[in-house]
Amino acid sequence: MTWLDFFCHPLWVVSTALLAAVVRLQRRPRWDPRTCDVRLTGKTAIVTGANTGIGKFIALDFARRGARVILACRSETRGTAALHEIRAKTGNLDVHLRLVDLSCMDSVREFAGRILKEEKALHILVNNAGVSGLPKEITKDGFEASFATNHLGPFLLTNLLLDLMKSSSPSRIVTVSSVNHKKGEVDFSHFHGENLVYCMDQVYNHTKLHNIICTNELARRIKETGITANSVHPGVVMTEVLRHYPRWIRWSFNIIGFFFFKSPEEGAVSPIYCAVAEELEGVTGKYFHSDCSLVLPAPLARDAALAVKDFEVCERLTSKL
Ligand SMILES: NC(=O)c1ccc[n+]([C@@H]2O[C@H](COP(=O)([O-])OP(=O)(O)OC[C@H]3O[C@@H](n4cnc5c(N)ncnc54)[C@H](OP(=O)(O)O)[C@@H]3O)[C@@H](O)[C@H]2O)c1
Repeated sequence: MTWLDFFCHPLWVVSTALLAAVVRLQRRPRWDPRTCDVRLTGKTAIVTGANTGIGKFIALDFARRGARVILACRSETRGTAALHEIRAKTGNLDVHLRLVDLSCMDSVREFAGRILKEEKALHILVNNAGVSGLPKEITKDGFEASFATNHLGPFLLTNLLLDLMKSSSPSRIVTVSSVNHKKGEVDFSHFHGENLVYCMDQVYNHTKLHNIICTNELARRIKETGITANSVHPGVVMTEVLRHYPRWIRWSFNIIGFFFFKSPEEGAVSPIYCAVAEELEGVTGKYFHSDCSLVLPAPLARDAALAVKDFEVCERLTSKL
């Protein structure tokens, strides 16, 4: 029997389809945005990395709910395409594109400055943009590129927008992290590209751990302000997230993913839950799984002393730029 015969064998096809159906049933989230009638009319939301993948479906949902939505994207072409698509699908013309490169602190400051100038309020900030598998690169700010994009840029952006969110409270900050944070480590020299191993998603895992640590510490610092800050894992989702990986990895991911992984629309569910669900009013400093359940993050992400230190380091690194 050849490999082709094996994979085309009806028994194999049926058992794979059955297994995929069971996996799909099991990972059904306990919350469904389609049955949630929360409206966001009069609210303003920013979604970073909203031109594709999970971010695009988060923005689409907010636009359907009537929000003023700002797509924070780095590519004008890709951002404009998403803008037209979201406006056309929702009929909401109050959707706008603003450009930001989160790996560059000047760009983050420029973006935040424009938001502060143009927007009267900000009720939802979803830090969704992220990269994985980038080769070693140091940005002009002196940061390792994945750390700059996934953590330091969003960290700075959030801090620059805090006052506006305070004056718009109740407001929510949602950070799209990953279950991979459990494999991450904290070593502050990583921010400058030192002591890193560029193997598979190791660098990415560290950045996703910092996401949760600093979101928790932020939540502690802003407890009485009416702003909540939570982190969330979207699931394993078929997006462009592996675009920097070798072709064979992307192919394997896509083949397996076809049966077992989430669509970008499904991946958007848990971040949307954190951003809009009424039952989460006032809930802060928590980490949510992709099925929308409240779960404990890794022990390092719960270390309060480490969180204080990490937050201070990130503040120091970004404030001088
Ligand atoms: N997919 C998964 O299985 C999975 C699992 C766990 C967590 N996540 C997290 O989910 C989030 C969304 O990922 P995704 O799967 O939707 O990936 P994606 O399809 O690759 O989308 C990533 C988005 O981030 C944007 N982005 C990347 N670098 C940027 C920069 N320097 N400045 C501004 N925007 C930038 C991208 O813009 P361009 O299109 O212009 O590059 C794109 O819009 C990420 O934080 C990721 O870590 C994903």
